[in-house]
Amino acid sequence: MTDWAAIKADFPVLKQTANGAPLVYLDSGNTSQKPQRVIDAMSNYYETINANVHRGSYDIAVKATDAIEGARQKVAAFINAPSSIEVVFTKNATEALNLVARSWGGANLGEGDAVVISEMEHHANIVPWHMLASEKGFELRWISVKDDGHLDLSNLDELLDGAKLLSITAMSNVLGTLNPIHRLAEAAHAHGALIAVDGSQYVPHLATDVQAMGADFLIFTGHKMLGPMGIGVLWAREEILEAMPPFLGGGEMILNVTKEGFTTNEVPWKFEAGTPMVAEAVGLAAAIDYLNEIGMDEVRKHEVELTAYALRTLKERHGDKITIHGPSEPAERGGVLSFVYDQVHPHDVAQVLDQKGICVRAGHHCAKPLLRTLGVPATSRVSLYIYNDESDIDLLAETLTEASDIFSF
Ligand SMILES: Cc1ncc(COP(=O)(O)O)c(C=O)c1O
Repeated sequence: MTDWAAIKADFPVLKQTANGAPLVYLDSGNTSQKPQRVIDAMSNYYETINANVHRGSYDIAVKATDAIEGARQKVAAFINAPSSIEVVFTKNATEALNLVARSWGGANLGEGDAVVISEMEHHANIVPWHMLASEKGFELRWISVKDDGHLDLSNLDELLDGAKLLSITAMSNVLGTLNPIHRLAEAAHAHGALIAVDGSQYVPHLATDVQAMGADFLIFTGHKMLGPMGIGVLWAREEILEAMPPFLGGGEMILNVTKEGFTTNEVPWKFEAGTPMVAEAVGLAAAIDYLNEIGMDEVRKHEVELTAYALRTLKERHGDKITIHGPSEPAERGGVLSFVYDQVHPHDVAQVLDQKGICVRAGHHCAKPLLRTLGVPATSRVSLYIYNDESDIDLLAETLTEASDIFSF
């Protein structure tokens, strides 16, 4: 049995008050909090072995290099990648998606081609494709989202016909919807397309196996999985990375430079120009250790139970006053609940909650096409993680009543 109260106690931020009330953090889809162990691992790195990597010949430089390469191996094992050389460190998921677009897309897409995405993508998986499409002239096709929060896959074959890439989120950051990645990968491959999976909301919350998914690319971001800001991951199959041109140029990514040109380093370093984020990699490795000790199946179980409790409690307490978007079945979704409450603007909801120390996000959640489909300009969004419990949901449900008292007419 996991001691969830002991886990919560590992997060120093949660020991504070905000506006005079104990801080209740319900915004982990935005960024997660960090356990003391991650903070200590990063401080310890700076206190003991800080040095630039891959180029130093002295003791602490070797240790720093071992630290970043050890972190790479840990990331590879966490997603069941066949090899750690398939793991590229980036600044965040956004940079990883831009890397796929600029490098793979730049080399492989042109007029007459198509890339398929969905209406539930984060802007990070939309804008890079818009930018490239306007230069290269390929078509961007959209999988629609149904009223129940699931993808409309009725015309999937039509959309994939002639497409070179399906780039899609494994879990929506607005609806919580878990998408059928294995099925989508099979469909993409049957049409000769590759599949890039945006795992930013999925990898922190569910056991991830890139091989079982059938993915060609997986993108995620360290700060949503208890790790630090400033590190993201692009995983891709080795032969795909080998064939891709470099993304950014400079130090680290070359084998040789002459007045006439340069030769590129081996993968993954070919894609890691300049000094990398060593302390952040150490922090991410500590976060992975922490999650592994709990067990990703336990993490998921806790979140399904808490999501079920939240859906039930909010409905019981607020009935028709609250509209919660996304799948109604907790097993088909993650712990992300976007809602509209009693004609109160989501920013007003967030402000009232803030007065009680409750942190939620209000706005379009960087998913404007989806919000247009939902027919709302903004929602309030609660997103759960391992340090949340039923008391957080109870306080949320109770405080919402105050928003209604103040703002509804
Ligand atoms: C589904 C999804 N993709 C991509 C991102 C972008 O992550 P980052 O800002 O770390 O690059 C987010 C962040 O909210 C997200 O939810």
